[in-house]
Amino acid sequence: MTGSTTVQINGKRLWNELESLAKIGALPGGGVCRLAFSKEDKQGRDYVEQRMRDLGLEVRIDPIGNILGVRAGTGDDRRLVLTGSHVDTVGTGGKYDGSLGVLAGLEVLQTLNEHQVQTHHSIGVAAFVNEEGVRFMPDMMGSLYVSGQLSLEEIEPIEGIDGKTIKECLEALDFSGRDDISNQPIDCFIELHIEQGPVLLDNDLDIGVVDRVQGILWEEIVLEGDSNHAGVTPMNRRRDAGYAASVIAAYVRILTEEIEGLRGTVGALTLFPNLINVIAKKATMTIDLRHAEKDRLIQARDLLHKKINAICDKEHVAPTIKTLADVDPVVFDAQCIQSVEKAAESLQYSSIRMISGAGHDAQIMASKWPASMIFIPSQDGISHNINEYSTPEHVEAGASVLLHALLEQARSIL
Ligand code: GLV
Ligand code: MN
Ligand code: MN
Repeated sequence: MTGSTTVQINGKRLWNELESLAKIGALPGGGVCRLAFSKEDKQGRDYVEQRMRDLGLEVRIDPIGNILGVRAGTGDDRRLVLTGSHVDTVGTGGKYDGSLGVLAGLEVLQTLNEHQVQTHHSIGVAAFVNEEGVRFMPDMMGSLYVSGQLSLEEIEPIEGIDGKTIKECLEALDFSGRDDISNQPIDCFIELHIEQGPVLLDNDLDIGVVDRVQGILWEEIVLEGDSNHAGVTPMNRRRDAGYAASVIAAYVRILTEEIEGLRGTVGALTLFPNLINVIAKKATMTIDLRHAEKDRLIQARDLLHKKINAICDKEHVAPTIKTLADVDPVVFDAQCIQSVEKAAESLQYSSIRMISGAGHDAQIMASKWPASMIFIPSQDGISHNINEYSTPEHVEAGASVLLHALLEQARSIL
């Protein structure tokens, strides 16, 4: 891995920033918990906001708490080249998922300040709210709002897994601002992120030039049966919601064997009353399906629903199916992809074009503006895990590629 150019980001400073942000919401055994719209999430966002102010950026905060820091360009067309990611995490998250993209964006702007680099277009760093979607669904909520695909009226009443609404959290934690963070023409969005999978590591590559992101379908299935005595109720007279849920969970894995490229996960399953000698009256489960092709995702969903109806008919259990997120696969913008590829090449980093398995704000922004992404390797291909790790060298490589891709887009005047 090599890399050289006149303007260079400060890798050590960025590493220290990642360590500092990771102290907010730090878990006792390692890792981070900053669930969206929680106290820890607010503290993380305050940290980012303060850093934006220290860098002299123009800071905007919108009604759902998305933050944008802008470094002004010299052009009078007010065009904005955008980067960024998120600071919320899953409940057992790592230090890099999301934080890297936000802090690397700020490191890029600090580097430009220090080298007094002027750009024609402005460059902005966004910290989007609720990218993870584990507490409040759907995921990528902040970018869905910015790109006009979800309104404040739709977002505020959404109830989280702990029963609180987003409106309550926004008010209690003073999250909201009044700015419109997309009130100037957005030129493009380029997001740096850890890969979260094994492709770069297995191929000993420095940089992933992300050209596509697979689609996501999230559903919640609620199954209603009857509670009765485990020892007495004959097997043919049961309405066992727990049994139906486990057949459905096993079928999700079978589906992934039948549809090539499909990823399927039952990440949450709760039974009620959840007692050893009581047949479950109610089961609530989530299903996460992903595929690079929309048709295959629809096929998977249709087969899944058929199976749910069949097992529920047989067990006399009543199913309710709710869609929690439905995000199409996207293909990124050719020119933005090229900017990333060119930046990696000019810095002599090894790279590969690849698809993202995880969902990202860039995927949402891409529906409205040209977008692409940069990946760096994840140790052991692990993410959404407290052991998530990327090396300081790869963090520096990713931020360097980001710097040069943004400079290309923003037309630097060196
Ligand atoms: C976001 O992290 C996702 O679920 O892909
Ligand atoms: Mn992420
Ligand atoms: Mn994530």
